[in-house]
Amino acid sequence: MSYDYGLFIGGEERPARSGATIEVTSPATGQQIGTVARGGDEDVAEAVAAAASAAESWAATSQARRAGYLYALARAVTEHADELAEVETRDMGKPITVSRKVDLRSAPEAIEYFAGMAGKIEGRTVPVPGRFLNYTVREPYGVVAGIIPWNYPLLQAIWKIAPAVMAGNTVVLKPAEQAPLSPMALVRLAHEAGLPPGVVNAVTGYGPEAGAALCRHPDVALVAFTGSVETGQVIQRTAADRVVPVTLELGGKTPNIVFEDANLKSATAMAYAAIFTNQGEVCTAGSRLLVHESVHDQVVSGLLDLIGKQTVIGDPMDEATTLGPLLDAEQLKRVQGFVSRARDAGTTLLTGGGTRRVDGLDSDLFFEPTVFDDVDNGSELAQSEVFGPVLSVIRFGDEDEAVRLANDVPYGLAAAVQTRDVGRAVRVAGRLKAGNVWVNSWGNVHSASPYGGYKLSGHGREMGFAIMNALTQEKSVWISTR
Ligand code: NAI
Ligand code: MG
Repeated sequence: MSYDYGLFIGGEERPARSGATIEVTSPATGQQIGTVARGGDEDVAEAVAAAASAAESWAATSQARRAGYLYALARAVTEHADELAEVETRDMGKPITVSRKVDLRSAPEAIEYFAGMAGKIEGRTVPVPGRFLNYTVREPYGVVAGIIPWNYPLLQAIWKIAPAVMAGNTVVLKPAEQAPLSPMALVRLAHEAGLPPGVVNAVTGYGPEAGAALCRHPDVALVAFTGSVETGQVIQRTAADRVVPVTLELGGKTPNIVFEDANLKSATAMAYAAIFTNQGEVCTAGSRLLVHESVHDQVVSGLLDLIGKQTVIGDPMDEATTLGPLLDAEQLKRVQGFVSRARDAGTTLLTGGGTRRVDGLDSDLFFEPTVFDDVDNGSELAQSEVFGPVLSVIRFGDEDEAVRLANDVPYGLAAAVQTRDVGRAVRVAGRLKAGNVWVNSWGNVHSASPYGGYKLSGHGREMGFAIMNALTQEKSVWISTR
């Protein structure tokens, strides 16, 4: 079967004005599985116009009615969960069990969470001096652009669309060209769920074409972006010309700190999950394992054991598979580049480092779980986001050194701490320069809890009331009581 999508503009699905399309291929098989439209300037202009013309009546629609559409969408996602999971896996290569248990479990829950904001987006009365009543209302911005990456396409689309429309904005979504199918399936479902035309629009296409046109458009009032630092910088610069706000969720280089007092069995399991989940194509991937020198050998040998016993590299559609292919040839080249430069620099490679063939699949994109030991925290491997199943192990001697190493990267999206000492957990959590800290855990993200980065990992927070505030502007009204 072929998955084919046009652009969604003003309640209609249609081809790009140029007629151009982008082939969508499956990383596991190398086969074409569908097409999407290659949107350009004209398409973006029409999508923004559709969103702008729907904005006023959508903003005037009651919060309860907006929520009603989202609940309908959540039900539709649940009804189509199996198909959506399959599309996600075929398009970007994550194991089908992950698509089902992570992405499709969180998807309807996230939509419902934001629908639950109905009646909760409220203003304040402010005790100003003099004979005045001063109150505030939170108003939508208008047209919000959502630009998303390819590693969690469906969830990213939901995190951009659901809070924005609940806050009364209309949306133009730009999915990643490498994995556009599940976002487009979601938008199609939104239309079937009856969302009024123009409230949710989607333009597929390349970043420098459709993405850039969207960021430049004078009627886009806010840009919500998740992706690489380089693109985030371009987007913030473009937004500066028009003085519009951006939210940026960029990359990371998450330290996972294992103290000598940790439960080593679960800390090791956490270290494994932190770097090999979703092929390491996770912005919060625990790509630096900082481990106390006294437990280093035990943790590392436990980790190698898990790699040997638990990792199944295979067809991502197979339920036994735990590690699917990397996204595409470009991503593979990136990962291979980091690995070969680390090897050339003499870094100790404990396992992996290369690609693996899977019987019956014509793909070179399966990359082995890779562990480097005694990595210099200042080296390229430890400082850069690899976005693949490649772990840097780094020893430390005491708590101060662990914190210093953890913070000594340009990123600050997340950090994890494995310890049984409560005082230490709280102390270290307080000293880490990261937007998310996980103690005796890794990777917890929920719609209700603010999510975002420090430093190069971006600014602005998604999820919870944080995103509802980011997607509305507060108007202050003064009334003289004389
Ligand atoms: P990217 O940042 O180029 O792409 C993300 C999105 O931005 C896509 O929808 C893309 O089409 C769009 N885009 C690209 N250039 C644009 C422009 N000039 N104006 C507007 N939109 C534009 O990321 P890419 O190239 O897919 O991945 C490169 C690296 O970035 C990865 O290897 C990884 O290290 C990092 N990354 C981090 C992610 C995260 O979740 N924080 C997600 C994806 C990538
Ligand atoms: Mg790019």
